[in-house]
Amino acid sequence: MTHSAVEIQASTLAGYSDASRLRQANDQDWVLAQAPAAPRVHADLGSGIGQLLQACLERFPSLETAIGLEQSAFRLSEAASRLQPYGDRVLLRHADLMAPEPLELSPDLITMTSVLHWLYPVEFRLFDWVARTMAPGGTFLLTTYHPERDEYGLGGEDDIVRDALAALGRDRALVPGFLAAGDVLPIATRTRDTEGLRDLLERGLRIVSTAERDAVVRVGSAAEYEHFHAATFGDYYSRLVEPPLRQAFFRAVGEAAWRRQQERGHVSHMPVRLWKLTTRD
Ligand SMILES: C[S@@+](CC[C@H](N)C(=O)[O-])C[C@H]1O[C@@H](n2cnc3c(N)ncnc32)[C@H](O)[C@@H]1O
Repeated sequence: MTHSAVEIQASTLAGYSDASRLRQANDQDWVLAQAPAAPRVHADLGSGIGQLLQACLERFPSLETAIGLEQSAFRLSEAASRLQPYGDRVLLRHADLMAPEPLELSPDLITMTSVLHWLYPVEFRLFDWVARTMAPGGTFLLTTYHPERDEYGLGGEDDIVRDALAALGRDRALVPGFLAAGDVLPIATRTRDTEGLRDLLERGLRIVSTAERDAVVRVGSAAEYEHFHAATFGDYYSRLVEPPLRQAFFRAVGEAAWRRQQERGHVSHMPVRLWKLTTRD
């Protein structure tokens, strides 16, 4: 069977450098402004294509080692090309953050941006790992997105996907059941609320401060959002539809987003929270 370009993009999570300009990359300076003045060892968890590691290497001449832990081989390979000029200051590792392995270094800066929802419901394993691994008094910077949820636990990207599935002829009311039957946990359910997260984080870490901003996504065309969705969510949702319909599904996601852009002046907006944490003692 041949696959369309957008299906190939989704299976390799390609195009993130462009796609992340719509949302995730806008958090970068905001996050790094909370880093210590002269970190020596930085670990970025779910480091993707290495953008945050690169920004850190550029910003902090003090940085001796920048470590990226990431599960996607495609993303690790893109990060390796991006970070090749920094030579042996960079260590990139394949890792599953749902079962994190011991690290031989003790980072004094750990970051994790736009990743936590993928670790639900076992985020505590990663938080425990951070508490064990981070140098005493180190800084852990975490961003979490908080879409509004409906009574079925759907919100944020789930809503756009619901519109797309409806455009493909599915009954809107049956979409929550359809997601559940396909073992697709809504993204809005994957992000715990602030209080739930606070409880989990405070098991082993101390919250130094929190900040919040509104993350607004705007696009100039349906195609732009179609590619953002493929690069960010991969085939997480598209596997719900039969293979012959997948190309049409991605197109419908782009069109659903573009309709919102035209009606509301944006596709979506939601609070993003920046947690600054340190060790307990
Ligand atoms: C939305 S991207 C964020 C990338 C980057 N941190 C940023 O802020 O642009 C989420 C990243 O987390 C990675 N990821 C998701 N689940 C993971 C897991 N269990 N272990 C390691 N990485 C994971 C994905 O492969 C992807 O690169």
